[in-house]
Amino acid sequence: MIITDPMFGPFYQQVDAADLKRAYWKIDTDDGYKFNEEELKKLISPRTKLLYLCNPHNPTGRVMTREELKAIADVAVDRKLRVMVDELWEDIIYDGRKHVTLASLNPEIEELTTTSWGISKMWGIPGVQLGYTATTNKKAMGEIVRVANPFYHGASTLGQAAARAVLDPRSEYWVRGIMKQLHKTRGIAEKRFREPTSCSRGLTSIRVTITSTGLCWRRPRLGYNRALTLGQVVQCI
Ligand SMILES: Cc1ncc(COP(=O)(O)O)c(C=O)c1O
Repeated sequence: MIITDPMFGPFYQQVDAADLKRAYWKIDTDDGYKFNEEELKKLISPRTKLLYLCNPHNPTGRVMTREELKAIADVAVDRKLRVMVDELWEDIIYDGRKHVTLASLNPEIEELTTTSWGISKMWGIPGVQLGYTATTNKKAMGEIVRVANPFYHGASTLGQAAARAVLDPRSEYWVRGIMKQLHKTRGIAEKRFREPTSCSRGLTSIRVTITSTGLCWRRPRLGYNRALTLGQVVQCI
């Protein structure tokens, strides 16, 4: 399985639990966290089964451009590579960026892609543990259901009620309120660090380059956050 490095930590654990070998597609801060499809091509071998993506990307906050996604889709279609993409953060984006759903690009990539979302972030209700996944590929969905069924016995009653409420278009006002609040807190954090250009954009956290302070970040272990979170930076300084 090809997985980006860095990536939301629990995804590495999922890969390990499935007993798959990880191949790391590195996205680097020096490169503006761009998703370079030439690097991706180098990682694909006849044994590659799946490409695991996250867009908008946690932890970097990068929102993939349509061009990047198109390039990834072309590679996946060309190599008949299945893709899993987490789009949980799809609505929490800043500065006029646009989130594009990978599966929406064309019918070929749609058939290869499984997408997942949740309700914890955009509506600010972590804890209800409700997410959802979609694919037009009936075989892939059949496999997901087969593997998930022994562990998941339906979503909680609270989760179902919350999902029904937040996915209703009438809840749009709530989303606008959350975005307003997120912009405000992000602005405060940027101002405090007085280095707006060093902050990556997106998600609810801000990551800051601290090299000018003479400090450097430690990479806790391969394949996890290369950047420090705000809390860690504060502690560190
Ligand atoms: C990319 C990504 N996927 C999934 C999750 C899990 O979300 P939930 O709160 O719904 O368990 C998170 C949580 O931070 C996340 O960042």
